[in-house]
Amino acid sequence: MPGLDIGVIGPTGFGGSYLTVELLNRGHRVRGISRHPEKLGHHEAYTSHPIDLEKAPIEDISKAFSGLDVLVNEYGPHTAGEEALQYQPFLELTRKIILAAKDSKVGYFIMVGGCGSLNLPGTHFHTCSESRDWWLAYRRAIAKSHAHVAYMEERLGSMGTALREYRDAWAAVRQGTDTGATRRSIDEYEQKVLNNDKAKTFVTACRTSFMFFDGNTSFRWTYISPSALYRPGKRTGTYKTIFDEIPLKPVPAGADPKSLEDRLHGITAADLAIAITDEAEKQGRIGRHWSAYADLSDDTPTPSYVTLS
Ligand SMILES: NC(=O)c1ccc[n+]([C@@H]2O[C@H](COP(=O)([O-])OP(=O)(O)OC[C@H]3O[C@@H](n4cnc5c(N)ncnc54)[C@H](OP(=O)(O)O)[C@@H]3O)[C@@H](O)[C@H]2O)c1
Repeated sequence: MPGLDIGVIGPTGFGGSYLTVELLNRGHRVRGISRHPEKLGHHEAYTSHPIDLEKAPIEDISKAFSGLDVLVNEYGPHTAGEEALQYQPFLELTRKIILAAKDSKVGYFIMVGGCGSLNLPGTHFHTCSESRDWWLAYRRAIAKSHAHVAYMEERLGSMGTALREYRDAWAAVRQGTDTGATRRSIDEYEQKVLNNDKAKTFVTACRTSFMFFDGNTSFRWTYISPSALYRPGKRTGTYKTIFDEIPLKPVPAGADPKSLEDRLHGITAADLAIAITDEAEKQGRIGRHWSAYADLSDDTPTPSYVTLS
């Protein structure tokens, strides 16, 4: 198959940098679209289109997208730190991007959203982002992964530091070296998670962004939500997919069947990049909301961002 012309919004970000490397390795031509796409580095099939999507008018954004077979939206606010994890800016920017993508008639629009829009099993109106049980299971699961905590520390300041302290506190409990203070710190952290997790505002914005797409037949799109434990790590080369619902592992023996504890799946950015590249080439999930998950047993910390050599 001859290479495609693929635009990546956010080529220097977490998901976008891994994706751009995968696309180039698979023989596609990539146009990086962000404020400083040149920071990714050099490759003969990589071109940079610098643009500030917040400030630029939709007409200019449409020009940035012109002539593309596929456009992948990997825009995210994380590189600006935890204070940038807001509700309105993400939705407003997503609106502009969709209007511009439709105007420029890109062949296929791939939206990378968040796991917050995935439904809890067997439900139609109950997403992860509004489930207190999901938030607790999520924080407990990522705290068990050294690689995930290291990734949060690299990207999200005090949120990463708090997660490290929470992980260390659980480790003390498991080793039997905890004190009353350790238990209190776990309780305090989990109360905050249950009442209003610091990431909830942004995760809910991502959740709501799906409403721009659901049932919309005015352009060719697909919407991928990474599975919950999405992080940097090993490229295993294989993944599984699921439509609409959060992928879950079987209920552990003797556990409450309603509990989400120890049941969340995840995927590395390198494996998600394979899933997105496959979709860009095959275009088999038009108008669908889906997730991908893979083996996360390797817990080696890995950089959140990659560059072209
Ligand atoms: N578990 C999950 O479900 C999960 C976890 C993480 C992320 N996600 C989702 O994945 C998607 C991508 O997030 P990410 O974390 O991979 O990205 P990220 O690291 O936050 O990437 C930021 C990218 O956006 C670009 N950018 C920021 N502001 C911009 C602006 N004003 N104009 C143009 N470009 C701008 C940056 O490039 P410049 O600095 O060059 O502009 C950078 O390349 C988001 O929808 C996010 O919600 C989901």
